[in-house]
Amino acid sequence: MGVFQYRNGTLHCESAPLGRIARAVGTPFYVYSKKRLIANWNAAEKPLGKKPHLICYAVKANANPHIIRILAERGAGADIVSGGELRLALMAGVPAERILFSGVGKTDAEIRAAVAAGVYSLTVESFEELSAVSRIASAMRKKARVSIRVNPRVNPRTHPYIATGLRESKFGIAADRAVEAFRLAASLRGITVAGVHCHIGSQILETAPFTEAAEFLARLVRELRSLRIRLEFADLGGGWGIDYQRIVETGADPNPERPLPTGPGRLFKAVLPILSDAGIRLLFEPGRFLVADAGALVASVTFTKENGGRSFVILDAGMNDLIRPSLYDAYHQIVPVRLRSGRPAGRPDIVGPICESGDFFAHDRPLAAVKRGELLAITGAGAYGYSLSSNYNGRPRAAEVLVSGSRFKLIRRGEEVDVLWNGTGFEEKGLAN
Ligand code: LLP
Repeated sequence: MGVFQYRNGTLHCESAPLGRIARAVGTPFYVYSKKRLIANWNAAEKPLGKKPHLICYAVKANANPHIIRILAERGAGADIVSGGELRLALMAGVPAERILFSGVGKTDAEIRAAVAAGVYSLTVESFEELSAVSRIASAMRKKARVSIRVNPRVNPRTHPYIATGLRESKFGIAADRAVEAFRLAASLRGITVAGVHCHIGSQILETAPFTEAAEFLARLVRELRSLRIRLEFADLGGGWGIDYQRIVETGADPNPERPLPTGPGRLFKAVLPILSDAGIRLLFEPGRFLVADAGALVASVTFTKENGGRSFVILDAGMNDLIRPSLYDAYHQIVPVRLRSGRPAGRPDIVGPICESGDFFAHDRPLAAVKRGELLAITGAGAYGYSLSSNYNGRPRAAEVLVSGSRFKLIRRGEEVDVLWNGTGFEEKGLAN
């Protein structure tokens, strides 16, 4: 049973009624289940058993330090992409030797900070970056541990904005120049070659793209070994898909034909035999899988209306709070916090208050009749929800709440309106008003 479920007709996160949290913190707010987070971690980690491995949580999915800490305490490393995320991961308790630093555009300052902290590995994505890392580490009289991100030319069959391992993508180094890159890295004074990396995309439902990527990595590891370049690890990246359509059990299956995600158990069964042959430590970088279904965005209905034969439910959350539907046409299951009996009363567009037609959470979605002030929960919002939020349209960011059992705790205050002018020199005027 999911952690978001109805009890006595009201939606709970674990044993905490969402209405109670709404009264305490106001809407909109993000709510996360600690129990689900830990269950997801166990589902990812346990099947790997005694195989040498490291799971590095992709911090970008949800960068709240309380979330990072819960995972770090259970042995997670962190996959980071900026100097800010480096600070955050260290502060939240991820040891440097479990941190991977990826990204196509690390600045010199970021490279320096990562080398100084002694991260497990920098995932290098270009020839120029290899030289820069070597130069910076040498000047610090250190050696930087690096892996090289290679594009295996695998089609992950996901949304084009989140497919990353294609030939013409901006990420990594093309497959046909991989050996050349490793040779260069092995010759550079400031570098220790530690591993090979690939990340082919996100929200991948099938096993086959991962199997293809694993086969590619295994072949490369063998070829490098024959050239006396020995790798300590192979990193298959993240990208594990989840089922966004049925997070809360409502009795009705909206789309029984939809493809379902493989899940880590089956994924490992497919890729481990391919890669353990190569005799190296296996790394994974899941983000979404660990946090997405552990979180929901709860909003109130501001107004309902009809326009040109269409009906609209307007929420007090907008695309600045959760941009995934606008950006990727992503599906999020949306359910009323107070359960209504009977069939859905209509198929409204569920939208936000922002001045953009692209500000929507769902189009034409079956929903019980709702009234002003009623609460709706947008599920599957634990990943790339808060972390992609903004102040667009003068909207302070929402609060974040962590639930454990029947207790809940504010893990980030909702922003005050002064974020809109802080740092501009208008602070004093803001206070006067
Ligand atoms: N490793 C690397 C190098 C990545 O670039 C990413 C995600 C991950 C790991 C984690 O991927 P995950 O397991 O979460 O799929 N904003 C989009 C997703 C962007 C993913 C970017 N990179 C969304 O909301 O669907």
